[in-house]
Amino acid sequence: MKPIVLAITGASGSIYAIRLLETLLTTKRDIHLVISHAAGEVFRHELGLKIDLKNFSLDQLLLSRDAESALDDGPEQNALSSIIAGTTRGQLHYHNNQDYAAGIASGSFLTDGMVICPCSMGTLSSLANGLSSNLIHRAAHVHLKERRKLIVVPRETPLSGIHLGNMKTLSDEGAVILPAMPGFYHNPITIHDLVDFVVARICDQLGVEQSLTSRWSE
Ligand SMILES: Cc1cc2nc3c(=O)[nH]c(=O)nc-3n(C[C@H](O)[C@H](O)[C@H](O)COP(=O)(O)O)c2cc1C
Repeated sequence: MKPIVLAITGASGSIYAIRLLETLLTTKRDIHLVISHAAGEVFRHELGLKIDLKNFSLDQLLLSRDAESALDDGPEQNALSSIIAGTTRGQLHYHNNQDYAAGIASGSFLTDGMVICPCSMGTLSSLANGLSSNLIHRAAHVHLKERRKLIVVPRETPLSGIHLGNMKTLSDEGAVILPAMPGFYHNPITIHDLVDFVVARICDQLGVEQSLTSRWSE
């Protein structure tokens, strides 16, 4: 199995990114992680997390008990705590968003795909218009040009014609547009249930086995 690239940008929904990272790290895969500056701001605003983008470590993503209980009455500690404690099977490789020398900036670095979760409208626009001002943009363009899986998880509402046009452009280029838009047919009770619905759909697209939610008619 080849590595998976996870990029986190500055759209609302940091909790999706944490849950996705937790889930991917429980597989045997190597994960290459990049976090935009704006994503750091959203982590601070939504979950009270201070992310040091120059000296990142996984424990910076641990939710406080206050943040967990604000989300719902779900598990008191996120799964990252047990991953940090050593039960992880995957390997985490963090890259600074300005590090164009990172392997994921090159088409010769093979991956099983990239996901941008959540994806801001700013990043979406850069991708659709071929701009490459950070490593996230560059790695996404590499996935498009190499015809590898690119999954974009936009979070914005309502959407302008520009946003819709950018999504259409990326979809035409082969990207999967997977909006952070949970369904309700699995009878969610907690916010975690809603988050898991979206993360499960992302994992399905990546070909990563998951048992986060039951499937329709199961
Ligand atoms: C708390 C917070 C929430 C935000 N939510 C969104 C959002 O849901 N969607 C979006 O497109 N931008 C959102 N933004 C604005 C982006 O962070 C901003 O456009 C930024 O330039 C995106 O940069 P990036 O794509 O490099 O992460 C939010 C900003 C903050 C501070």
